[in-house]
Amino acid sequence: MKNRKVVTVTDSTSGESVECEVLEGVHGHAVLDIRSLPSKLGYFTYDPGFASTASCSSTITYIDGQEGVLLYRGYPIEQLAQHSNFLEVCHLLLYGELPAKARWSEFNAEIRRHTMVHEGIRRFIAGYQHDAHPMGMLVGIVGALSTFYHDTLDISEPEHRELAAIRMIAKLPSIAADCYKYSIGQPFMYPINSLGYVENFLQMMFAVRAEPYIPSPVAVRALELMMILHADHEQNASTSTVRLAGSSGANPYACVAAGIATLWGPAHGGANEAVINMLRDISDPAEIPRYVERAKDRNDPFRLMGFGHRVYKNFDPRATLIRQACHDLLQDLDAGNQPLFEIALRLEEIALQDEYFVERNLYPNVDFYSGIILSALGIPLNMFTVIFAISRTVGWVAHWMEFFSGEEQRIGRPQQRYVGAARRDYVRMTDRG
Ligand code: CMC
Repeated sequence: MKNRKVVTVTDSTSGESVECEVLEGVHGHAVLDIRSLPSKLGYFTYDPGFASTASCSSTITYIDGQEGVLLYRGYPIEQLAQHSNFLEVCHLLLYGELPAKARWSEFNAEIRRHTMVHEGIRRFIAGYQHDAHPMGMLVGIVGALSTFYHDTLDISEPEHRELAAIRMIAKLPSIAADCYKYSIGQPFMYPINSLGYVENFLQMMFAVRAEPYIPSPVAVRALELMMILHADHEQNASTSTVRLAGSSGANPYACVAAGIATLWGPAHGGANEAVINMLRDISDPAEIPRYVERAKDRNDPFRLMGFGHRVYKNFDPRATLIRQACHDLLQDLDAGNQPLFEIALRLEEIALQDEYFVERNLYPNVDFYSGIILSALGIPLNMFTVIFAISRTVGWVAHWMEFFSGEEQRIGRPQQRYVGAARRDYVRMTDRG
């Protein structure tokens, strides 16, 4: 038997001790198994924001925040960004391996078979206010998918789980494009399954029935890169939400809707929209120092959007890749977004020399640049986080599937430290002062 490594935790008041086993991972921090702590010592652990807590074992994605490493199933993100495509990455995340040729055709066919959405969903979309935020619509519509596939879905069956995962990956672009078309009053487009995943999405977003539409290969490649970089990011807030919701046995479409709702926040996926709003607000490079000062002021709620990360404390490898892609794209496409990019580059330069940001290890994250790419592609601001949601759907469903195939299938249920009123007796209204 391999040497068992333990850490002994001793309560200095009672003198009682407990041995906590150290569980090694393949890479990164080992974790301390504290499951016996409450029963042996009578303590829970306290970790607001779960910054030091591993909630599960996972085989999908690995991040080394100090070294700026991101691996999907062991493959470095830089290699996938250079050589792979989004759908191949989906296969990798879902099944753990890059597909061989025959499997690749089969997987493509499976995804294509499910790109259409039930016409009832489109009637549902028509019920929204014309200026509804597409992220709000997406939460509702993906949640509504659960009503279309509920009775026929048995999540204890691996094939059913796989079908739900494929459906979500296939349908999200169609639903997202429908939300956009509805908001601008244009007729919905149908998927054209001879097109690739990304081309098809662009076609459903930007084509009109009256004219042919051929997406630019530069745009397709840029969006493909964006989607690869956003496909998974281990136990982030939205993925943890999906896993937690899934742990109760809830319908997977409803679980993913919960993930979409979590992603929407500006501290998470909503940052890409917030970055563009911030850059537009700044509008003049001369104004940058004022915004940097505001970000440092504790009394001002303003933060530099697209800066900082819970895990990356050196650099975000996705930001490096996307920054280069911005350079390339703005050279190739209409340079209307060049001034915004220049403000971003200058802001990055100033912040990275500022003691406040240096001391706190605050670096640009992926969303500092992703909005500039999306703007250059003609994607409207309120669709930015929707694109993130389309890309992250594979991560969500891969984690949801992993939860059900693993041994740790307990319902998620964090503990708390109660600091409210001590026990007290009910006082009748007539007796209250
Ligand atoms: N601007 C100014 N100060 C900041 C920023 C920022 N963007 N981010 C963190 N800080 C400060 C923070 O005030 C704190 O200072 P102090 O130690 O003096 O109290 C210190 O840095 C540590 O910050 P934190 O809030 O404890 O860090 P966190 O790990 O809880 O939060 C974060 C991470 C990403 C939510 C945060 O950095 C942030 O709000 N950034 C802006 C929003 C953003 O860009 N989000 C996208 C994340 S990447 C895409 C994704 O995965 O969703």
